[in-house]
Amino acid sequence: MALFDSHEFQELIRAHAAVKAIGADPFGVTMERVVSPTEAIVEGRPTILVGTNNYLGLTFEPSCVAAAADALETQGTGTTGSRIANGSYGGHAGLEEALARFYGRRSAMVFTTGYQANLGIISTIAGAKDYLIIDADSHASIYDACKMTSATVIRFKHNDPADLDKRLQRLAGTAGNKIIVVEGIYSMLGDQAPLAEMAAIKRKHGAYLVVDEAHSMGVLGDNGRGLAEVAGVEADVDFVVGTFSKSLGAIGGFCVSDHPDFDILRIRCRPYMFTASLPPSIVASVTAALAVIERRPELRTRLWANINTLYDGLKRHGLLLGPQKGPVVAVHLPSPEMAVAAWQALLQSGVYVNLALPPATPNGASLLRCSVCAAHSRHQLERVIETITEVAYQIGALSEPARAAG
Ligand SMILES: Cc1ncc(COP(=O)(O)O)c(C=O)c1O
Repeated sequence: MALFDSHEFQELIRAHAAVKAIGADPFGVTMERVVSPTEAIVEGRPTILVGTNNYLGLTFEPSCVAAAADALETQGTGTTGSRIANGSYGGHAGLEEALARFYGRRSAMVFTTGYQANLGIISTIAGAKDYLIIDADSHASIYDACKMTSATVIRFKHNDPADLDKRLQRLAGTAGNKIIVVEGIYSMLGDQAPLAEMAAIKRKHGAYLVVDEAHSMGVLGDNGRGLAEVAGVEADVDFVVGTFSKSLGAIGGFCVSDHPDFDILRIRCRPYMFTASLPPSIVASVTAALAVIERRPELRTRLWANINTLYDGLKRHGLLLGPQKGPVVAVHLPSPEMAVAAWQALLQSGVYVNLALPPATPNGASLLRCSVCAAHSRHQLERVIETITEVAYQIGALSEPARAAG
C-alpha cells in the first residue's frame, strides 16, 4: 500500500476536501497583513480577529516590540542550537529568574514552545512505575507527553473530582508516584478545572499536581498567575506549566516549581535538550511582556469587561455557549457542516474565529471558538455579536424569536 493510501489518510483527505469545497480552507487561512492585535487583512478584507488567543493584546505592545528589536539587532536572529549544546544566552536565564519571581517559585525552565513544555515535563517526571492521571479533555500536548512515557496513564472524567478521587483510591497501596495533570482553562470550551477540590484530593492521596495554565496565565488571579492563584491552592501545585504564545503574545513555554532538584530536568528532559532554544528577540519580548502583566493589571480588567460583553451579548441572542465565562467563548452549532458554513460566512463578513470540529473537540462538539482580547473595542465586539447572530440565523442554527430577543 502506498504511503497515503491507508483508510485513515484517505478519510482525512476526503473530509478536508469536503470542507474546502464550501469555500476557504478553515485550516489554511493566510493573514495577508496583521494590522493590530485585533485586526488583519484576510482575502483582501479588513477582518476583526476573534480567534488568536492574544488575550492581553500584547503582540504590538511598544515595550515588547522595542525589546525584541534591540535583542535582534545586538544578539542576532537565533541561537542555532539547544542550551545544553550551545549554551544559554543571558536572556534565557534572566527570563527564568523573572518567571520564578512572578510565580514566587524556586525555579523555572523555559522551553521553545508550550507544547514542548508539556511534552518535556510530563514525560520526564513520570517514571515507568508511576501513574499519570489526566483529565479526559486534556490538550494534545498532554496526551502526546503520555505517549512518550512508560508510566501507566489513567484518564478521569473531565472536571470530575469524584471520578479523580475514585481512580486514585483504586491505586491506594501501589508503589508508584501518582501525578495528576489538569488545565487551568480548557482550550475548547473555556471551562475551568475545579482546582480547590482537586487539590484537596491530591493531598488526600499524597499525589503530585501539574497544572497547565496556558489559557489562564495573565487572565485569572489578582496577579495574573492563573487558576491556582484564584483558587488559593498555589502551594498544592507542584509544577505549573504555561506558554508564551497566548497572554504574553509571542512563542515559547515554561515550567515553574519549588522542587529542590528541578534543575536536573535540564539534562534529562529530551524536548528541552534536543531542540534549539528560543531566539534572543523572543526571550526579550516575553520578558518585557511579563513586566507588562505585572505593571498593568488594568489590561486584565479590560479583558474581563470584554469577556462579559461578548459572552452576555451572544447568550442574549440565544446562542448556545460554553459553560463558563472566560477568554475562550465557544459557540456550539448543531453539526460540523453548519459550523463550517458559519465559519465561512463569518470570514466573508470580516470576522475571524477558530473552527473546532470533532475529533478535536469534547463530546463531538462543533464549535466556533472565539477568543477575547483586552484590545477589542466595544464597537468591534458589537459587530462580532451582530455578525455571529446573523450568520447563525441565516444557516438555520438560530430561530427568529431567539434572534429578535437580543
Ligand atoms: C492547554 C494548552 N497547553 C499547551 C498548549 C501549547 O502551547 P503552544 O501553542 O505555545 O505550543 C496549548 C496550545 O494551544 C494549549 O491550549
